[in-house]
Amino acid sequence: MGLGYIGLPTAALMAGKGMHIHGVDTNPNVVETINKGQIHIIEPELEGLVHYGVQQKLLKASSAPVQADVYLVAVPTPFKDDHKPDISYVESAAKMVAPFLRENSLFIIESTSPVGTTEKIAELLLSIRPDLNEKIFIAYCPERVLPGNVIHELQYNDRVIGGIDNASTEKAVSFYEKFTKGNLHKTNARTAEMCKLVENAYRDVNIAFANELSIISDKAGIDVNELINLASKHPRVKILKPGPGVGGHCIAVDPWFLVSDFPDETKMIRMARETNNYKTNWVFEKIIAKTEQLRKELNRKPILACMGLTYKSDIDDVRESPAMSIYHKLLEVNCTVIAVEPHVKSTDKLVLTDAREAIKKADLLVYLVAHKVFKSLPKSKQQETLDFCGALS
Ligand SMILES: NC(=O)c1ccc[n+]([C@@H]2O[C@H](COP(=O)([O-])OP(=O)(O)OC[C@H]3O[C@@H](n4cnc5c(N)ncnc54)[C@H](O)[C@@H]3O)[C@@H](O)[C@H]2O)c1
Repeated sequence: MGLGYIGLPTAALMAGKGMHIHGVDTNPNVVETINKGQIHIIEPELEGLVHYGVQQKLLKASSAPVQADVYLVAVPTPFKDDHKPDISYVESAAKMVAPFLRENSLFIIESTSPVGTTEKIAELLLSIRPDLNEKIFIAYCPERVLPGNVIHELQYNDRVIGGIDNASTEKAVSFYEKFTKGNLHKTNARTAEMCKLVENAYRDVNIAFANELSIISDKAGIDVNELINLASKHPRVKILKPGPGVGGHCIAVDPWFLVSDFPDETKMIRMARETNNYKTNWVFEKIIAKTEQLRKELNRKPILACMGLTYKSDIDDVRESPAMSIYHKLLEVNCTVIAVEPHVKSTDKLVLTDAREAIKKADLLVYLVAHKVFKSLPKSKQQETLDFCGALS
């Protein structure tokens, strides 16, 4: 259920192992694309696997579920305006599946979910199908793959698997053993749910530390990248890299699930979220200050180039991207901005310029994402550069 960044690679990998996969997605374009053996997202090795699965009649996409042995849910779990988790997609997937469940069915949630979601969904399923009480298996198994390396990590990462009871845990573990090679760690559903949230909160807190250092260093006239490099020579210190904030659908979202459920206890986790969001504003203000200085020097409106728009380096994903939000804010305040994003195609709404062309045209290069391709670009002319992500260091 759900054939996006997580569901499709998982489905394709399982099909590649000879399993029969009926993939369900509510987006008809996604269904149509996959049934042609093509893909709607960019992920290395994925297209070949999808093509193989469809050609071998092992993988089929559809808008509705069918009766199956295992149901695996990888639908979105965003947050609402008030930062409260929105599990309505998981509920809707569960309702779609409920009529097809039978004795011994295994229902797994992979979507990142607030603590207690699996138990809630179990209640929902059994309220629709009371005939299956204690006759089906329900488990939670979060995903921790790195976009850009999903096919490898899906197979080799360790996984945490927690059922609503021991039998569900065991059943889910024996399912994942069929197509994964990492260690499978058994626990209960609540711990598995919390584990995923804690992993992303850990990353967020550590990135917030680096972002705070970048702001202090700027004030102190110190190069933060050199500072972090030197401090990390300490045998027990390993500082992450600062950037223009934190984006994506995981690290910028999941810590809020903890803050929402434990508002009085999550002081540091909330502060990290706020620090990382503040960093985006700080970067925006820095760009505006530089633009103003250039406007006076050049006696005209300077041309800015935003180098990179995705939420992190070397991927095509712009969801929750701080770089993208900075670019839009610059447009809103009437700056003349060129957008450069080598991993995304131009659309009517987002007109992109080739990086080399941008270097020729811009008065100010603003590096927002440290894509590898930026390192091999020719050195720029006399123009000014602001590097907020260590793209050039
Ligand atoms: N993308 C990642 O790197 C990543 C990593 C770890 C965890 N996660 C989590 O995995 C989950 C899925 O994330 P994603 O990035 O794959 O999302 P996505 O938006 O790429 O894909 C989700 C898909 O589900 C479909 N969908 C929505 N409701 C549906 C329903 N009721 N039935 C069937 N399909 C439905 C959507 O059309 C969409 O194609 C989220 O909870 C996310 O937080 C994602």
